[in-house]
Amino acid sequence: MIKPHGATKLRPLYVACDEQRRSLESEAQGLPSLKISSASAANAVMLGAGYFTPLSGFMDQRDLASVAATMHTADGLFWPVPVINLVQQCNYRAGDRIALRDPNIDGNPVLAVLDIAAVEELSDKDLELATRSIYGTLDTNHPGVKMFSSQGRVLVSGPIMVLNYSYFACAYPATFRTAEQIRADISERGWNRVVAFQTRNPMHRAHEELCKIAQATVDADGILIHMLLGQLKPGDIPADVRDAAIRTMVDLYFPANSVIVAGYGFDMLYAGPREAVLHAVFRQNAGCTHLIVGRDHAGVGDYYGAFDAQTIFRDQVPDGALDIQIFEADHTAYSRKLDRVVMMRDVPDHEPQDFVLLSGTRVREMLSAGEALPPEFARPEVAQILMQHYQGWQAGS
Ligand code: ADX
Repeated sequence: MIKPHGATKLRPLYVACDEQRRSLESEAQGLPSLKISSASAANAVMLGAGYFTPLSGFMDQRDLASVAATMHTADGLFWPVPVINLVQQCNYRAGDRIALRDPNIDGNPVLAVLDIAAVEELSDKDLELATRSIYGTLDTNHPGVKMFSSQGRVLVSGPIMVLNYSYFACAYPATFRTAEQIRADISERGWNRVVAFQTRNPMHRAHEELCKIAQATVDADGILIHMLLGQLKPGDIPADVRDAAIRTMVDLYFPANSVIVAGYGFDMLYAGPREAVLHAVFRQNAGCTHLIVGRDHAGVGDYYGAFDAQTIFRDQVPDGALDIQIFEADHTAYSRKLDRVVMMRDVPDHEPQDFVLLSGTRVREMLSAGEALPPEFARPEVAQILMQHYQGWQAGS
């Protein structure tokens, strides 16, 4: 199976031994504690679940600056997005052991234990440099920049030990999976080549066909549909609705045993190209040999060019930095002429009016108005689940 990133074995930071975890949990109750941001908690969950192998915890200022500027840690490990813990205020010092409290669960239970290596205050210039490198903009209307700049400027770094998977394991028991669990599933199925599909959306026909085209092109034994389960910007569709829509589509329209449907506990960054590279790192850690990167991958608004998330792999990821390969997908849509979903590069004779294209805004408008989505755009069973969500949401709002 494909090697994890930067290591020969996966390094999940979840304390898997029951006895050790119970003992650390009881020690944590007596430790000084710090409530962290949702973004930091998501980083802890990803570290715990092995997706961020080979990191051992939260990066310090030196690594933050180095990863932001060069996509490498100060020690030379290839890594595309800083994995950090920013807080408004911290009264502890290097050498202290503290409990990190979960902001997303009532009562803020302990999520992880941190052995503080450094507490550093970032200057405006440090924050700006990091923001610009990760997001490509300082515009606080960008949802990722807004989140990043609201966390505070005190960087509390060091190795962590993770005690649980926050709300993800309880809220999505059939879907939340660690990198180790996905590797085990792939291995049990006897798959060698696995193509991963990243998504934060319910899947429409273009997405479905993208998975099938990618699987056939790279000759993959199976597909991992890997959905984000963490926080999104307002207006995006909640994870339980997406999960139901995706599972329905897979059951009805994919060959049996050709797809693993799973989710990971991370908040969306909307960092476009940089996030696409992070997506590749953690799909490699989950045992996938290929990742689909299509149009405006992990993008938002018009902050990134439609295919910037593909060019970053060619222009900025050094040869050999990653073992996973990218399947570069062109814009995919339903062709009225051919009566099937196609990649636009494959049909040079088509005019724009030959495709069924709906903007996200138009889709939301139609769903809110109770109008059925055209079957060329969405499978009827998927459209039904989305419509129920929109109408229930409107009734309740
Ligand atoms: S993402 O933010 O998680 O990337 P989304 O769930 O919409 O968003 O997309 C998942 C993947 O499908 C990404 O690789 C994206 O580029 C690709 N994609 C979505 N729609 C299309 C499309 N119509 N044509 C080509 N690629 C697409």
